[in-house]
Formats: sequence, structure tokens, C-alpha cells
Amino acid sequence: MNAQPVIETTDLTKVYDSVTAVDKLNLRIGAGEIFGFLGPNGAGKTTTILMLLGLTEPTSGVARVADFNSTREPLKVKRVAGYIPEKVGFYEDLTAYYNLAYTARLNGLSEELVMKRVGEALDMVGLSSKANQPVSTMSRGMKQRLALGDILVKTPRVAFMDEPTSGIDPKGVNEILDLIAKVAKEQGMTIVMSSHQLALVQRICTRVGIMIKGKMVAEGSVAQLGRDAISGGRYLIEIQLVEITSLLIDAIKRISGVTDVDRTGDMLVVTSGKDLRPQIAKAIVENNGLLVRMNIQSYGLEDIYMRYFREV
Ligand SMILES: Nc1ncnc2c1ncn2[C@@H]1O[C@H](COP(=O)(O)OP(=O)(O)OP(=O)(O)O)[C@@H](O)[C@H]1O
Ligand SMILES: [Mg+2]
Repeated sequence: MNAQPVIETTDLTKVYDSVTAVDKLNLRIGAGEIFGFLGPNGAGKTTTILMLLGLTEPTSGVARVADFNSTREPLKVKRVAGYIPEKVGFYEDLTAYYNLAYTARLNGLSEELVMKRVGEALDMVGLSSKANQPVSTMSRGMKQRLALGDILVKTPRVAFMDEPTSGIDPKGVNEILDLIAKVAKEQGMTIVMSSHQLALVQRICTRVGIMIKGKMVAEGSVAQLGRDAISGGRYLIEIQLVEITSLLIDAIKRISGVTDVDRTGDMLVVTSGKDLRPQIAKAIVENNGLLVRMNIQSYGLEDIYMRYFREV
């Protein structure tokens, strides 16, 4: 993460009547990150996003976006931030084209650029053929695509997307999110995305946070969370060799940082405090071992997510 965060919360808290929706949240997200915001229904994801956008006032604590205080300077935040709400809203009687053109004009684009940019965005989200159709006649997934098109037109510094892919078919989800990730990278856009679609989050997010009952219980890259949640912070390296000799096992055990070497059949499982694959490969070669395969154990976000709920 970059030193200077684009999104920062300090003890951010929101209490609704008796419910603490967000509980002293301290979040830092750097420029260019695609942050996946995960958690069960009612965890506080939407409430956090609303406070960051200045659309809901915190009970206590501070939310900042691009160095602006979201509560005190909401208009400045809105100028640099794009938002796809849980329930997307458009001018229903107006066409898809008109709705995006409206965003483009608000952004100060010249009429010539409006046409170009909106045309490109509609094309990217697969809605060119619907350009002149009123939004009211579009399906839910199409409206969701249009919301992503809106982000592409605005290309804000920061984009908050609350369940951006709900209702979009699987092929469309992959295409559109790959596109968003590409644009984000090219433009250095920072994205915060809440989603229940873990496979997708795993594919495009650089970092994820798991929120439960208003608190962030885990935060990091998927690889990091896998190690923390499942292997107790350790690295497990699996090695398959043509022949395993005690000489070789001893050599691997002597590598600094290796805590355990387990043999099962023609496989060795090395436990270590860091990724020692290069050192292990060297030891194997030096001891005339014949390596078939070596890989570091990794976990899917699904496993990680479920692990947090088993512990709660
Ligand atoms: N306007 C409101 N008034 C009262 N309580 C609210 C309000 N908005 C949210 N809450 C409560 O705050 C908590 C957090 O809700 P929030 O919408 O932030 O969850 P979420 O993580 O976005 O859930 P989901 O995955 O279902 O979208 C819930 O207990 C919810 O009932
Ligand atoms: Mg929500």
C-alpha cells in the first residue's frame, strides 16, 4: 500500500438506535488499490461507504477521501468519487445514452467528447444496442451494466461500488470487471467494492477486508489471509521428488527459516516462516535431488471467508 492513503477512516462509528452498524473502523486504502469489502448481510459495508461519501453522518470518528473530510466537505468528495449504490438510480424515462451523457456533461466534457466517451463506455459494457432505449425498459442486469458505464464515463479518482455485479450474468461479470480493473490500473483509480461473489473478488482485488458486526476482522491480500486464517501464519511448501533421501531431508531442515519437514509418500511438505522455494530448490540441486514439482500452498477466498465464520 502507498504511504499516503486515498481513503482513511479513524475510529469511524455509526450507531443506529440500538445497532452499532460500524464500530471504530480504522481503514487505510492506498492509490490504485482495488479493495474488496466482504462480510455478511448487515455487517456494515454499505454504512461505511455512505459515510465515506458524506451521504450519512458518522456518530463519531472521521472519514476521509482524497484528503477531504467526508462529513465536512461532502461536495469535494463527490467531485473526486464515483459511486454505484446498492440500488442503482437513473433517470428512468430518459435513454441509456442520455443518462451517461448527463454524467459526462456534469464532468465538464465538451459535446464532442461527450459523444465519444459515452459511445465508448456503452460499447465497453455491452449496451451499444440499447443506447436509445429508456432506462425504464432495461433489465436489472442491464441497469447494473449502465452504472458501470457511468463510472467509465466519469473515471473518478475513487470509485465506491456497492455490489456492482448483482444481477449481471456470469460471463458479463467477468468481462466487465476485467475491464474495470484495466481502467483502474491505467488511470490509477482506487476502487472499493463490496461483493458477495468471492471468486470474483479474489480475481480482481489487490486486497480484501472482512467485516463482521461493524468491525474489520481481517485485512490483507488473499494469499496473506490464507496463511493467517488457515496455516497459522506459516508457509506450506509441497515438493515432489523422483527419490527422497534422508540426506536431502536433512539438507532442507538445515535451511534457515524451515520449521518442519514432513514426508508423505513421494512428497515432502516443508513448513516455514517465509517463502523459501528458491533456497529449497538450491538445496535439492546441491544434493543431486531430482525435482518433479514444487508449489506453495494457497487458499481460496471461499475457504478463508468460511474460516472466519466458524470462529465467530
Ligand atoms: N437507515 C438505517 N436505520 C437503522 N438501521 C440501519 C440503517 N441502515 C442500516 N442499518 C443497520 O445497520 C447495520 C449495517 O447495515 P449495512 O446496510 O451497512 O450492512 P451491509 O454490510 O451493507 O449488508 P448487506 O450485505 O446486506 O448489504 C444493519 O444492522 C442494519 O440493519
Ligand atoms: Mg450493503
